[in-house]
Amino acid sequence: MRIDILTLFPEVLSSLLDYSILKRACDRKLAEFHFHNIRDYAADKHKRVDDYAYSGGGGMVMMIQPIADCITALKSEREYDEIIYTAPDGELLTQPLCNQMSSYKNLIILCGHYKGVDERIREHFITKEISIGNYVLTGGELAAAVIADSVVRLIPGVLNDEMSALSDSFQDGLVSPPVYTRPFDYNGWKVPEVLISGNERQIKEWKLEKAVRRTEERRPEGRQADDADETDFRR
Ligand code: ADE
Repeated sequence: MRIDILTLFPEVLSSLLDYSILKRACDRKLAEFHFHNIRDYAADKHKRVDDYAYSGGGGMVMMIQPIADCITALKSEREYDEIIYTAPDGELLTQPLCNQMSSYKNLIILCGHYKGVDERIREHFITKEISIGNYVLTGGELAAAVIADSVVRLIPGVLNDEMSALSDSFQDGLVSPPVYTRPFDYNGWKVPEVLISGNERQIKEWKLEKAVRRTEERRPEGRQADDADETDFRR
C-alpha cells in the first residue's frame, strides 16, 4: 500500500511513522509513505499556504492552489482508492473502516490545519473525511498517523502473528479480555487459575465471558461490528 500524506509538517509525520511495526512494514515493502510539504507547491513568491477567511470570523484557511496542484500531480501518476481529509467533523474512524481501507493500494491523506481547508478542496478532491474522535486537535498530523497505523498493521504480512490482528479489540465487536504473563503470583496477586489449566475449551469460554462483560461495562452502546459472531471467537 502506498500512502501519500500532504502536510505542513512532513518532518513530524515521518518521525511518527518511522518506528516499530510501521517501519517493518516499509522494510518489507508492504507499505510506503510519501510525505509532501504543501508549502513546496505554493505558487506565490512568499510561499503562502493560508489566507484570511472571506466574511472574517478569525482564523486562517488553507488555500486551494497549493493543495490542488499537489493532489492533481499525484493523481496524474496513479489512481487513488480514496483521498482522505482529516477533520473533526468527518466520519468517525472505526475498526470496520480500517479493515476496509487495509485492502486499498493507494491512499492520499490531506492533513487539515488552522480553521480548515477552503471548502472547494473538500467538494472537488476529497472522497472521504475522517475524524479520529469527537475532540479538536491542533492539526491533522496526529490523525493521519493514527489512520496510517491502524490501517497498515492490518495488511497481511505486517504483523508476525497473523491471528493477533483478528483478536484485536473491536474485530468481532467485542473489546479484548484481560491478559497476563509471568510471574503467576506477584506479591499475592495471582493469575486466574483457568489460564494455566491447559483446558482449551474452558480457557476459550473464560475469555469470551470476560470480553462480553467488559464490552457491556465499557461499550454499553453495543457491539461495533454487525457481523459479530460469538461462535467464531478466536482468542
Ligand atoms: N483535526 C482536528 N481535530 C481532528 C480530529 N478529531 N480528527 C481528525 N482530524 C482532526
